[in-house]
Amino acid sequence: MTTLFDKLTIGEITLENRVIMAPLTRMRSIQPGDIPQELNALYYSQRAGAGLIISEATQISPQGKGYPATPGIYSDEQVAGWKLVTKAVHEKGGKIFLQLWHVGRISHKSLQIDNKLPVAPSALPAKNSGTYDSKWKPVAIETPHALEIDEIKAIMMDYKKASENALEAGFDGVELHGANGYLVDQFLQDGSNKREDIYGGSIENRARFLFEALDEVIKVFGKGRVGVRLSPFGTFNDMKDSNPIELFSYVLQEISKRKIAFVDLIEPRSSVAGGSDSVDSSAPSTSELFRKKYDGVLISAGGYDPKSAKEVVDKGEADAVAFGRHYIANPDLAERIKFGYDLNKYNRATFYGGTEKGYTDYPFYNK
Ligand SMILES: Cc1cc2nc3c(=O)[nH]c(=O)nc-3n(C[C@H](O)[C@H](O)[C@H](O)COP(=O)(O)O)c2cc1C
Repeated sequence: MTTLFDKLTIGEITLENRVIMAPLTRMRSIQPGDIPQELNALYYSQRAGAGLIISEATQISPQGKGYPATPGIYSDEQVAGWKLVTKAVHEKGGKIFLQLWHVGRISHKSLQIDNKLPVAPSALPAKNSGTYDSKWKPVAIETPHALEIDEIKAIMMDYKKASENALEAGFDGVELHGANGYLVDQFLQDGSNKREDIYGGSIENRARFLFEALDEVIKVFGKGRVGVRLSPFGTFNDMKDSNPIELFSYVLQEISKRKIAFVDLIEPRSSVAGGSDSVDSSAPSTSELFRKKYDGVLISAGGYDPKSAKEVVDKGEADAVAFGRHYIANPDLAERIKFGYDLNKYNRATFYGGTEKGYTDYPFYNK
């Protein structure tokens, strides 16, 4: 039987264990410039005991930014900042992938260059969704600009350039953020994609954006160092699709053909991206719905505790488990799970923004 603490080979690299740190936006980059700093390097290196760290979502371009103080991977200063992070993690024996992010419509004019409108597949705002403007004031989502074909091509080049920068910054690989209602997901799901060209309509057309982006990223890193994150059934950021099982089955079958390092699937029970402490225990599981559609390494995320994580790997329903909120509060989470130590509780008030409080000051277990 395989356990959470067995090694796992993903593509070209071998992980020491199957406890993964999920991507977690913490909004603590240097301003102006969205530049990672020593504080971020300390935070990630504290968590290097994870089999794999997936970094916080990181904008591939100024246009891809949707919240204040999230880091980027398009400027030389950002690459230099990320080098501090990868070096610190590698010195502790850890492995780290960068999550590549374009938020699409989940942004605000004040975060965009020249106060331009955020972009999306179609000119449809995300209802009942919000972000923060550049002054950290909560704001509603505006009606975005529907992307022209040449603008989509330019975004593909941003994915490529961002991947080259991630390689230069020393990351072991990258995860394409296709989840949680951001740009890739906005193209996938027909609630947000009403296009009538080659990027809209049929499932194949709606998935085109994802696969074009994925292929650009693979060109840079090689398939063995690339993962994709998806959130079938996620409702965060006003997402919906008329037939999510058919859509995501197709996407997973096509990803299988590319033989990438892994797919990171958010469980349907955890539909609001960690935004609430409650989960829908009646929701069907990823393994029931999608395990058979994907024949590569599957990381499952969303609503796990140590017991349920051990079980899902023991049963072979997932190859590894990603933890979000428990990793915020427990730098030594993998060790705590391994030895059955109690977990620190997370404090939601310090998730986003600020300095070291609620970031690098959660204690390690005192043996
Ligand atoms: C503070 C916070 C920030 C998050 N940031 C990201 C992110 O940058 N990218 C992403 O794909 N998911 C993000 N998520 C979702 C988590 O990766 C994870 O899927 C979610 O929290 C459910 O897992 P959990 O129950 O272990 O926390 C975030 C969640 C939280 C709570």
